[in-house]
Amino acid sequence: MIHYTVDQQIAVISWEMTSAPMNVLNDDSIPAFEAALLRAYADDEVKGIIITSNKPEFVAGADLKMILRNNDKEPAEMLKVSSELNRVFRSIETSGKPTVAAINGTALGGGYEICLACHHRIALNNPKTLIGLVEVTIGLLPGAGGTQRLPRMIGIQAALPLLLEGKKVGVQEALKLGMVDAIADRPEALIADARAWIEANPNPLKPWDEIDRKTGKIVGKENYKVPGGNVQSVVGAQAFGAGTAIVMDKTKGNYPAPIEILSCVYEGLQVNIDRGLVIEARHFVKVATSKVAKSLIQTMFLGLNEANKGVSRPKDVPKTDVAKLGILGAGMMGSGIAYVSALAGIDVVLKDVSLESAERGKSYSRNVLTKRIEGGQSTPAKADEILNQIIPADSMEALQGCDLIIEAVFENRELKADVTRQTEPMLAPNGVFASNTSTLPISGLAQASAKPENFIGIHFFSPVDKMMLVEIIVGRQTSDYALAVAMDYARKIRKTPIVVNDSRGFYTSRCFSAYSSEGMELLKDGVNPILIENAGKNAGMPVGPLAVTDEVSLDLVYKISGQGIADGAVSKTDTSYEVSEKFVKLGRSGKKVKAGFYDYPEGNPKQLWAGLGDLFPLADAQPTLDEVKARLLYRQAIEAVRCFEENVVRTKLDADIGSILGWGFPAYTGGALSFVDFVGVTTFVETCDRLADTYGERFRPTRALRERAKV
Ligand code: NAI
Repeated sequence: MIHYTVDQQIAVISWEMTSAPMNVLNDDSIPAFEAALLRAYADDEVKGIIITSNKPEFVAGADLKMILRNNDKEPAEMLKVSSELNRVFRSIETSGKPTVAAINGTALGGGYEICLACHHRIALNNPKTLIGLVEVTIGLLPGAGGTQRLPRMIGIQAALPLLLEGKKVGVQEALKLGMVDAIADRPEALIADARAWIEANPNPLKPWDEIDRKTGKIVGKENYKVPGGNVQSVVGAQAFGAGTAIVMDKTKGNYPAPIEILSCVYEGLQVNIDRGLVIEARHFVKVATSKVAKSLIQTMFLGLNEANKGVSRPKDVPKTDVAKLGILGAGMMGSGIAYVSALAGIDVVLKDVSLESAERGKSYSRNVLTKRIEGGQSTPAKADEILNQIIPADSMEALQGCDLIIEAVFENRELKADVTRQTEPMLAPNGVFASNTSTLPISGLAQASAKPENFIGIHFFSPVDKMMLVEIIVGRQTSDYALAVAMDYARKIRKTPIVVNDSRGFYTSRCFSAYSSEGMELLKDGVNPILIENAGKNAGMPVGPLAVTDEVSLDLVYKISGQGIADGAVSKTDTSYEVSEKFVKLGRSGKKVKAGFYDYPEGNPKQLWAGLGDLFPLADAQPTLDEVKARLLYRQAIEAVRCFEENVVRTKLDADIGSILGWGFPAYTGGALSFVDFVGVTTFVETCDRLADTYGERFRPTRALRERAKV
């Protein structure tokens, strides 16, 4: 799996793992890689080494499953693992033989750290190649020398954003940044150039290394001058100041990795590289054994991968394909759905009440594509191809032969029933009809259908082109076939589907309303609205609960909670109803009318409405930030637990993915359901009980949770 050949006195070590879909660093490949290196070091005939790959990628990073296994290790044991890897990579620099990374394809994380350890880096000019230290995105830090070598090589100012954001760059940008030293145009040139470099540099020494006069060995140099300035220089200090401020603003301290990265660079660059690597390993152990890394890897990487593969798709339905799609309603949602579908190569008929409205819906795609051309992400020819796939229409006949019709007309039961009856006959045999309703139960809407087994909910999120999630809602009569069609379609348009059983508010809206509603409960309790909003953001939610309610609009909250009361599903004293009613009557129904919990002065940032204090007088004693955060997070999590126990959401993974991608539940917890394990089930139950005793039964833990807490 790691080939070793010697050709004209140059050893070529080429990665080609057969046990994994991509070349990754794991318990098998690391020792094999080291064995190949040792062979080259020991062979006096070998005067240089080329490291490359026979697969499309160079090395994609560390095996996530291995990282997850290591997460449970004791810190001391983990330190050993990390030091071992560092020893292997450091040997590349100190063996005395020139070593070149011939980067044929993507080199990420540990894969790029191999390149950093080499004396020279040449990348193949391959538009698919991505290069970067992406560890931070999974809650880790580059623990195989990345935090030490990259800033020593390209300077602190250039390295910090790459390390802190985990940005992946293409070959040309990598060259500009100094992450690679040269580019080769063809695969043969890649190896030939690597050879030529070795021939020309028989005794390479990294600038941060020197030869120990006594032993003749290569060791780290003291007082190495980092390009652009050391840690204590003005530039270095400024870069740290800015880095720390950005990290704290973005992470609110919820993600430890970026802070540890800053420490690695700050501490590590004041000593020689050998000691710097030891410092890095110490910080690496902290993040590698952290709950945050575990949560991110489990949900956002391994889990998301599973969800995208369609784990929830019915297995015995053969693969389906939507080639022609009909969309009813070319409003905000319909036009977004048309765009993402045409982008995926689907023929789209976009129908509205008039051709003019349908055309307006299509122009949304035109605008998005124009911006993409300006940004260099598309070309006029590609844009035309996509636009030609959207046919605006005002007649039923245009929908003839659609494999799937999605209705996105106004949220009105009768109107939706009408369009269902009128357009269903246009479907291809065995075609599926879907509703994008955000609030109306699917089984009820299916009553208008002649084929309720082929009726399903496909709930998109706004803005459709940016939001990755679709919530697929299975009605009482929906067949596995219809579910498979919806899931295959979701995958075709590159969205992540979760499967939800029909119920009030489905899954995401129900849990999300818990967040918004707790914001209003806090207001009623006299908590300072500034504290409420800060607590939401500090907990890791993208927006405070009051601001987000303004965005959703208070008249919608009023309508939905009012309907809930009428249906007997919601108590007459419901806080969302009471508060939203007050605001609607005041004409303050949210952002769209520039007045809600906030004021939206023209040309100025929004500010909390001064009248809030009269409506909700501040309590004398204000709670702590942590208490408000707990109320906001636990309220959502307990709702997610109920949804799972009531089988509204079918799997734990869907519950977690849906929470993060759907309504912005903080990813560091692993998702709204995993939050229980993130804090520990016993702590969760005890805290819920305390919150229930203090603020109300909505926090009371379920019986099943209590059972789990006992064991
Ligand atoms: P919108 O008001 O922007 O668009 C509705 C469109 O339907 C209008 O262009 C209207 O002319 C058209 N229409 C009305 N009757 C029609 C008919 N008989 N045939 C064809 N077209 C007809 O509404 P929006 O926001 O796009 O919402 C549409 C649906 O999507 C609603 O059910 C809504 O609940 C749901 N939804 C909305 C979300 C949002 O964030 N706005 C999110 C998820 C779902």
